[in-house]
This record gives sequence, C-alpha cells and structure tokens, in this order.
Amino acid sequence: MGEFVRSEVRGAVLLITIDRPKALNALNRQVLDELAAILADVGDARALVLRGGGEKAFVAGADIASMVEMDTMQAHAFAAFGQGVVDRLEALPIPTIAAVNGFALGGGCELAMACDLILASRTAVFGQPEVKLGVIPGFGGTQRLVRAVGSQRARELVFTGRNVKAEEAVQLGLALRVCDDVVAEAIALAEQIAANGPIAVRLCKRAILDNDGQALSAALVSERQLFALCFATVDQKEGMAAFLARRKAEFLGA
Ligand code: CAA
Repeated sequence: MGEFVRSEVRGAVLLITIDRPKALNALNRQVLDELAAILADVGDARALVLRGGGEKAFVAGADIASMVEMDTMQAHAFAAFGQGVVDRLEALPIPTIAAVNGFALGGGCELAMACDLILASRTAVFGQPEVKLGVIPGFGGTQRLVRAVGSQRARELVFTGRNVKAEEAVQLGLALRVCDDVVAEAIALAEQIAANGPIAVRLCKRAILDNDGQALSAALVSERQLFALCFATVDQKEGMAAFLARRKAEFLGA
C-alpha cells in the first residue's frame, strides 16, 4: 500500500482512493507510480471504483508545484508517464467507475474520462483548466474530451478552461448522473455489474474498447467472435440453464 494511493477489496469490488487531500489529491510522480502499481494487479475484482480522499476533490489535476520548473524533456516524460497510467486504467479488463466527489480538473478530469462510467457528487466540478496555466491538457484531455462530449463542446471547454458543474456534466454526457452519496452509489453500481457473468462483462468491455473508431462492419465481425467465445464458458451454460429453470444463475467466472 502506498503513501497516497490505497485499495480496499469490498466483496467483488476494488475501491481505490487517491488520498493526498492537502494538495486536493494532485497527481505527482509518486501518486502516479502508486496508482500504476495498484492498477497492475486488480486480483479477482469484477469492478473497480476510483475516488478521491478528503471532502473537496476527486483529483485537482497534475501537480503544479512539481511541474513549474520542468524543462521540455521533463515535461514530455511526465506527460508520457501520466498518459501511460491513464491508458492502463482505460484498458483494464473490468468495468471502472469514477466516483467524482468534488474537483476533477485537468489530470483529474482526464483520469475520470479513462473510466467506463462517471458518477458525480452534487459538488463535482469538471474541467480542463490547463490554458489558465499556459499549457495544454497532457494526460489525454484533448482527445478523450472530444470523444466524450463531441468536438465543438470539447473545443469550447479546453479553449476557455471553464469549470463545469455536476448537472451540466450530465447534460454534456460527461457524467452519467448526479448522486447524493456518490461513493455509495458507485459501489452499488459496481456490485450490480459484478453480479453478472464476469467473463461476459469483460467481453462487453473488450468489444466496446477494441472497436472504438473501427468501421461498423469490422466491429460487428469482432462482436460476433466475442459472442461465440462466450459459448466456450461454463457461465454461458449456467446463465441460460438458470433462466430456463427459473432460478438465479451462479456464475463462476469460468
Ligand atoms: N497541483 C498542486 N497543488 C494543488 C493543485 C494542483 N493541481 N490543486 C490544488 N492544489 C493545492 C493548493 O496549492 C493548496 O495547497 P496549499 O494549501 O499548500 O496552498 C491546496 O491544494 C488547496 O487548494 P486551494 O487553496 O487552491 O483550494 P481552493 O478551494 O481555493 O481551490 C481549486 C480549489 C479551484 C481546485 C484550486 O485549487 C485550483 O484551481 N487548482 C488547480 C486546478 C488546475 O489547474 N488543474 C490542472 C493542473 S495541470 C494538469 O492537470 C495538466 C495535465 O493535463 C497533465
């Protein structure tokens, strides 16, 4: 367990907390290292929830104090490392939910966008304010925000650097819904997902992620191959037999 990032197993759900509240959970190299180490092995978890520690923030961005004196080469290395961690989060085989409990700015918004689903607390604030610091988003924001909300809306947000509150984030399609107790609701959603056939859930994610940007015809070939693969699992036999016998399925993840 690291100094700033910790994980807890809650049944089938892995709860990860970025916990550096004095700096609003800002991402310095150590935080990114610790997060990468946890993401490297999610064990038997069937879903993951990511949250920020403390009351105010999910993650208020990459750590400005650690960037202020960087030269070009150092900035490039920092962005490459940060992008790598965000990519690793996005590529996890299990569904991931960002429980955005406060500020998700800059690198925090970029981290949230790498999750499959984003739930927002009433106090959640999203944004890519990098231009206010004289830089551009460097952990994927110029790309994933376009994919999340569309080109024109993303351009407005990255050009102005303005904040987006929870309700607007939902209207934009950036967040799924606004929650009174965002962490509890994220865990409940993760548990709902975890009750399903775990291999099927992973393959749903694979089908969506691997085919992003593909032509529909190629994506449909991939989808039917993954559909067929399900029929090599015990869970497919169990799920369908349970339906026909009017009982609850007992999925083994096999
Ligand atoms: N990096 C480093 N420290 C940060 C931080 C960040 N991104 N965000 C907040 N902090 C620190 C503050 O410096 C402050 O520390 P001290 O108490 O030691 O002074 C502490 O967290 C609390 O912050 P504030 O006093 O500023 O709290 P506030 O409630 O007045 O404001 C806020 C909250 C609006 C989120 C404000 O902190 C803020 O604007 N933060 C920066 C947001 C930002 O610009 N993020 C983008 C970073 S660049 C980036 O992420 C690039 C990329 O894509 C890779």
